[in-house]
Amino acid sequence: MNKTTQSVSSLLLAAAILISFPSCTKKDGASNATSTGAATAADEIVIGEVGSLTGSEATFGTSTRDGIDLAIKQINAAGGIKGKKVRVLILDDQSKAEEAATAATKLITQDKVVALLGEVASTRSLAMAPIAQSHQVPMITPSSTNPEVTAKGNYVFRVCFIDPFQGMVMAKFAANTLHAKRAAILRDVKSDYSVGLSNFFTENFKKLGGEIVIDTSYSGGDADFKSQLTSIKTKNPDVIYVPGYYTEVGLIARQTKELGIKAPLLGGDGWDSEKLTEIGGQALDGSFFSNHYTPDDKSPVVQRFITEYKTQFNIVPDGLAAMGYDAMIVLADAMKRAKSFGGDDLRQAISETKDFQAVTGRITIDKNRDASKSAVVIEVKGGKFQYKETINPS
Ligand code: PHE
Repeated sequence: MNKTTQSVSSLLLAAAILISFPSCTKKDGASNATSTGAATAADEIVIGEVGSLTGSEATFGTSTRDGIDLAIKQINAAGGIKGKKVRVLILDDQSKAEEAATAATKLITQDKVVALLGEVASTRSLAMAPIAQSHQVPMITPSSTNPEVTAKGNYVFRVCFIDPFQGMVMAKFAANTLHAKRAAILRDVKSDYSVGLSNFFTENFKKLGGEIVIDTSYSGGDADFKSQLTSIKTKNPDVIYVPGYYTEVGLIARQTKELGIKAPLLGGDGWDSEKLTEIGGQALDGSFFSNHYTPDDKSPVVQRFITEYKTQFNIVPDGLAAMGYDAMIVLADAMKRAKSFGGDDLRQAISETKDFQAVTGRITIDKNRDASKSAVVIEVKGGKFQYKETINPS
């Protein structure tokens, strides 16, 4: 057994111990997270988390929080890090970029956190990153995929793949698996994520011989997409690429069907929420999106994570929960290796993460502070997410 496998096993062992002492397990993921900076005890490490616990992407924040919470419980049950217990302070940014920036500043300057976890949405991570960088506090985003996020500086990391890859994954799927030749785009101009992914899809789809027959847009928060969809309908595309977040995508799916459009919708990880099909219902059947993780993965690491998460939260973890968990175990691993918890030592240790076995794959932080990992394509079928195929980075 190598070192990285061992680190996961010790976490899993800790989980087993936790499960056997039910008084230690809490059903409410938020209960150990407060937003006020209680005095830091000498025997604890305080980290900050910024997430959308409310607002249009609330499930991103709550799932990520729960994944992080599970990891921390396991880490602490196994004795903590260098004899210290880990505590997380969570601030809700209400799904707003300005709030994410304010929260990051508060956690760093008032609560003196040693590291930051968050955000999920790229636009909000882009608002936080310059703050982490200027204060020299390492930040790990679990799941922001826009390439610009980690380009903000050498204190900013991610444990997920990036959108040039994710855009290529869906372009390949459209061209090679669905044999699509003509694609329409419907992008959210307010989201760096959606704009970037639309561009990367376009670039790759064209390289594969496809044509973009129309490129349309909306603004996050919109609820009526009929005029864009009517224009799309006149072009009769084979597929419609909609790399937005679940609230708008659910509504777009419904309106697509109301207009009698048959072409399947394709999207990215921003679709990953149980709310997607709650909002979109049957209209989403036959749609596909790329993602970081699938609970259908039978590997022991994934299945043990699912069991532990279900024990604590009574639901199957989504991709956000898995990414939150992974961000926390990568940070913990770096903390164990770091010379000190000071910003520069911690940054150095995170950057040296190599072949670390996490739930969403093996994580090596590359020179751009990104992780190169495979993606899965998920099909929406009968209101459920079904694993379709895995696409590896070349
Ligand atoms: N990748 C998205 C972004 O950068 C966020 C996201 C990740 C959403 C994973 C859902 C699942 O904005």
